[in-house]
Amino acid sequence: MGVTKGVATFNLVIQVILIVGALTGATLAWKHKFSRHCLLMRVLMGAQILVIGIIMAPQLSRYVSHWHGFSTFNVELIIHHVFGLIALALWIYINLAFTGVVKAPRRYRWYMRSALASWLISLGLGIYLYGHIWQGWR
Ligand code: HEM
Repeated sequence: MGVTKGVATFNLVIQVILIVGALTGATLAWKHKFSRHCLLMRVLMGAQILVIGIIMAPQLSRYVSHWHGFSTFNVELIIHHVFGLIALALWIYINLAFTGVVKAPRRYRWYMRSALASWLISLGLGIYLYGHIWQGWR
């Protein structure tokens, strides 16, 4: 059984809260409050991983197992997924670099900006997907 509209709306509300948190986290970095920024981003992405595991990944696998070829919807679903994974992968990389597990890059700025941009793009597409599935947007 797929998610209900209630679960999808709950997820959407969580996603909006998380992105407001991430934008707040970015302003902390721009004000050079790096340790608070780092902690906030870790908590937010930790929560995001839970939501991905509980709601979004099972739902994605349902769409993929009922695959009927490429459509605008499916392409948007894939792009949403890819950008979300890029944000997650960058977060993992940033944490591994900060903890010395992998070699740190010379500068973090572009990794950080790319993580934020990917997160925003993924959410934008996610909002569109929600509208398409539940509100009849075309
Ligand atoms: C997906 C999660 C994250 C996002 C979206 C993000 C976003 C950002 C942004 C937008 C900046 C400002 C870059 C600029 O314009 O100069 C920044 C800087 C920074 N962030 Fe993150 N961040 C994330 C995770 C983390 C984590 C987990 C840590 C700590 C382990 C961290 C530590 C820092 C530091 C130290 C800076 C300053 C980097 C520099 O100026 O070279 N960030 N981050």
